[in-house]
Amino acid sequence: MTMKITVIGLGYLGATHAVAMAKVGHQVIGIEPNEQKIASLVQGKAGFFEPGLDEALAEQIAAGRIEFKSAHDESSRDADIHFICVGTPQTPGSMAADTRYLESAIRDVAPYLREDALVVGKSTVPVGTAVKLTAQLARESGFSNPNLAWNPEFLREGTALEDSLSPDRLVVGVTNSRSEELLRKVFDPMIQAGVPFLVTDLATAELVKAAANAFLATKISFINAMAEIAEVSGADANQLAKAIGYDERIGNKFLRNGVGFGGGCLPKDIRALMARAQELGVGQSVAYLHEIDKINLRRRDRVIDLLKAELGILSSKKILILGAAFKPDSDDVRDSPALAIALLAHEAGANVLVHDPVALEGVALKHPELSLEHDLLTAFVDADAVVLATEWKEYRELDPNTVSVKNKLIIDGRNVLDVAKWQQAGFRVLALGRTITN
Ligand code: UGA
Repeated sequence: MTMKITVIGLGYLGATHAVAMAKVGHQVIGIEPNEQKIASLVQGKAGFFEPGLDEALAEQIAAGRIEFKSAHDESSRDADIHFICVGTPQTPGSMAADTRYLESAIRDVAPYLREDALVVGKSTVPVGTAVKLTAQLARESGFSNPNLAWNPEFLREGTALEDSLSPDRLVVGVTNSRSEELLRKVFDPMIQAGVPFLVTDLATAELVKAAANAFLATKISFINAMAEIAEVSGADANQLAKAIGYDERIGNKFLRNGVGFGGGCLPKDIRALMARAQELGVGQSVAYLHEIDKINLRRRDRVIDLLKAELGILSSKKILILGAAFKPDSDDVRDSPALAIALLAHEAGANVLVHDPVALEGVALKHPELSLEHDLLTAFVDADAVVLATEWKEYRELDPNTVSVKNKLIIDGRNVLDVAKWQQAGFRVLALGRTITN
């Protein structure tokens, strides 16, 4: 059954959620204060690279199921549910998440909230945030018991729309049956399709998301820690991951060793969890996440160490970094391992050139000190070393015989290259987590 909803904040999470909700038949108003983003959204462009999203957006605009506004107006009052999808970035100079955008979203929606309507937070937040926001909503709406629920989102960039439409599970933290009923209604198409629907309290729903990302980060750093041991013992971390992954209790997903995790979620979420646990007096419970973070950051240094071991001092050496996005099929460069490696090599005096199929615009804005090249084959010319840092398909499938470099050395930071193929083309191939005989 069609419901009227607003989606507040149209970044990666909000834009995808808005399109997914329209796709399942709801009437959506997207609210985004950034006028430039609105101008792009109304043209059917999400404003970031996410496979399939722009096409789906244009389709829903044409179907009349989605419209965009820079602020709420009287039409927001018709909405049964207001989804809040604003960012909760890391606070500068602290590990804690910055929840100010949530507070302003509550402030903005309060005057347009019907007493029987529901506000649903989807952003990743420190446990306890929803209770504070409910109190704020009560003050600002004048309702003594406003309906506020938490529904964490588990989508991954690169497969965001698919993940939103067919999630592994739906988790809703609620304080009353009215909220549960509304959420069951809005997610009915997913529930009918068999998606597990878990109803919890607010704190559990908030913590589920933090826990899921902490677990995923732990899995990646675990295999990267094994990679560190493999590197000094002659073992092969890829084979090790494969071998332990056959044990169903361990599983083979998120066990790819390499330059580590990045992006707008995993790094900041483990830090926010540590900060919140500390505030709650149980910092020790997740103190191990400091090590998870450190193992992850050490993998970036490992690439620089390998470069120095091969080339001596890096000054005036041309290093090509393949990839800038934190993972393929995304143009997101937030906390990107690839970009961090480019910057470390730059600081070490190297003449760094960065290639990425879609993310260079974002790099140019953030790091004008880095040299960028859009054409892949041109980027290779005269390179003293090449580092594969993001596993884009075009790098995995590249024919090494078509590239021209000064020195045939490539470091596979993601363990995705066909080593024999590169060696046959004359390259010396190094990788993380294993010793390759060249
Ligand atoms: C992550 C979670 O996977 C989502 O479930 C969650 O909803 C999202 O954060 C969020 O909090 O919004 P995402 O940041 O899009 O999603 O990316 P992931 O696919 O989790 O990858 C994170 C990083 O880990 C990437 O840099 C990737 O290259 C790296 N990674 C992943 C590895 O180094 N090894 C692996 O085996 C898997």
